[in-house]
Amino acid sequence: MKLIGPFKQIVTLVNLPLRGKLSDDQLEIIANGGILVDDGKIIEIGNFDFLKEEGKHSQIELIDEEQICLPAFTDSHTHICFGGNRANDFAMRNAGKTYLEIAESGGGIWSSVQHTRNASEEELLKTTLERINSLISLGITTIEIKSGYGLDLENELKMLRVIKKAQAITEATLVPTCLSAHLKPRDFEGSSEEYLNYIVDEILPQVKKEKLSERVDIFIEKSAFQPEESKKFLLKAKALGFQITVHADQFTPGSSRIAVEVGAKSADHLEATIDEDIQFLANSETVAVALPGASLGLGEKFTPARKILDHDGILAIASDWNPGSAPMGNLITQASILATFEKLTTAEVLAAITFRSAFALNLEDRGKLEKGKKADFVTFITDNFQNILYQQGSMRAENVYINGNKTEKKL
Ligand code: NIG
Ligand code: FE
Repeated sequence: MKLIGPFKQIVTLVNLPLRGKLSDDQLEIIANGGILVDDGKIIEIGNFDFLKEEGKHSQIELIDEEQICLPAFTDSHTHICFGGNRANDFAMRNAGKTYLEIAESGGGIWSSVQHTRNASEEELLKTTLERINSLISLGITTIEIKSGYGLDLENELKMLRVIKKAQAITEATLVPTCLSAHLKPRDFEGSSEEYLNYIVDEILPQVKKEKLSERVDIFIEKSAFQPEESKKFLLKAKALGFQITVHADQFTPGSSRIAVEVGAKSADHLEATIDEDIQFLANSETVAVALPGASLGLGEKFTPARKILDHDGILAIASDWNPGSAPMGNLITQASILATFEKLTTAEVLAAITFRSAFALNLEDRGKLEKGKKADFVTFITDNFQNILYQQGSMRAENVYINGNKTEKKL
């Protein structure tokens, strides 16, 4: 058994509810804290000197500078397995070009599909692992990764197999999601409904057979899949045993309702959600996932996170890291910025990137520092946890622990 400490502060996030608003005085902060870990789990947490005297440990990992400790973060929505890059889309968008003009000049999701199809498994594995390591260096140890740039049986499976291979290499927990319903690929001959049936009949059975993913996502939007066909598709995916998550209300409202109606684990984006639907979502078990990185990448408004919390919803914040709408890949910066625009308390932001985002992935064994939880935590050299969001992501994590062990610094 290993005792790690002393930390100037440990922000445990224990005793915070799953849903609704939080005030900062609800945060439990252990001064001069220590964490006793064994076999990947937290055995005990409390005053360092007390734990030391108690003597249950067989070794001490001494923290000899002023550091604080928090649960490691969970990024519940990413598209970090992709080929190519879309810097030209970004520049064109900022130069005033429309979605259509960008697509016509070879940009948009379809261009990432072509690059991803053309990339070998080895290339994809290498770049995906680089992005995973970059997220770990921020203190993120649980990472959802979507397919959705393959868009046919062969290439969707290729992406999901790459994610599986990455899982065999990284210590982080990867949660793969099948997003074959990202867009009807240009080379599919048939209607979008027929493409959705193709996913159900051809792709999902194979995904299940190879145990590549337990989650299914869809992009419901005017330019992608329409509400009725999407709902039918999601119910079929659910009947096959998949958990559901939805790209909802990014530009037009309505689809977060479908997410709730089909019992989705999460509805993500929500930049365009109308008040009535916020209430509907907030009354449900479906997690509302804000993606400020997409708002920043596109210059669109932010998800109404304040209203979601005030209506007692479950709010998570994720990076949406992808080559098109959200190229930044820094969840801490994005969450801090969302907090300033939406007026979120520090407790609300920390909850949204820890146990609330883990809940969106159906993982309830992490995101709080308490006995029995997974020993994933992150430390920063500072004497006050408020500095993390205050510095808007420019204060880097010092050490990231996975299963009680310090990860090797890769960046
Ligand atoms: O979450 N909205 C749809 N899908 C992605 C964007 C993917 C892309 O542009 O490549 C998103 O923002
Ligand atoms: Fe996304």
